[in-house]
Amino acid sequence: MEEKKVFFFEDYFLAPEYVFQPRPETELLVEIAIEHIKKYLYEISKPKKEKFILADVGTGTGCIIISIYKKIEKLLNILEIPYKMIGIDIDMKTLKIAVHNSKILNSRVDFVLGNLLEPIKQADFIVSNPPYVSLKVKDKISIPDPPHTIFGGEKGYETILKLIAQAYSVLKENGFLLIEVGYDDLKFFDLEELKNEYKKEIFSFAKNLGLKLFPPVKDYNKLERILIFQK
Ligand SMILES: C[S@@+](CC[C@H](N)C(=O)[O-])C[C@H]1O[C@@H](n2cnc3c(N)ncnc32)[C@H](O)[C@@H]1O
Repeated sequence: MEEKKVFFFEDYFLAPEYVFQPRPETELLVEIAIEHIKKYLYEISKPKKEKFILADVGTGTGCIIISIYKKIEKLLNILEIPYKMIGIDIDMKTLKIAVHNSKILNSRVDFVLGNLLEPIKQADFIVSNPPYVSLKVKDKISIPDPPHTIFGGEKGYETILKLIAQAYSVLKENGFLLIEVGYDDLKFFDLEELKNEYKKEIFSFAKNLGLKLFPPVKDYNKLERILIFQK
């Protein structure tokens, strides 16, 4: 097993070159998810006495779901809420790294191979840092990570729309979908029009399905980074 490690949130994660390297901006997704999950556990899961199901789509090294697990596991036990946490990735080699990280960090997260949410039937929370970069900027950037981890289609938002559609049928009533996005970065490539289209397409698609939209959360550079939807 290669030994390249990356510090993310509160831990070191094994991250060889062939997997997506965890980025500091994704720590915001973890923070926001923990905040919403804690509230949800008290208000929804506990009174309903239901199993809490969390899914991480495109889990990569597993850094998002393992970090969330480590912060909420104690609370789940105190509130006596049974739980299941699942990281999904389309790449088997990547999944093996996530399983390794989970073992090293003593987490009880399961990892499954699959295309977006296809492996699961139900979830309370879905978190994802999906491939979201437009192929239109392919020649203008130099990113070392494998292309399938970065590019979300010609416009960039194609994978996100598929994810939102699947999330709508998988989410329980009141369940949440949190997605990391990067459309604000398009303005640095003089692609302001695509940026506006990107945001409009995602928001109108989710709204037409009947999902409730929250204001996007900005990162430390004041770029809209996390989208929050509730069923
Ligand atoms: C941007 S990386 C995020 C990795 C990790 N969650 C993180 O934040 O560091 C996207 C991940 O999604 C996976 N992926 C790409 N397309 C997918 C699909 N259709 N279904 C499931 N996973 C996919 C890639 O293999 C990659 O690990």
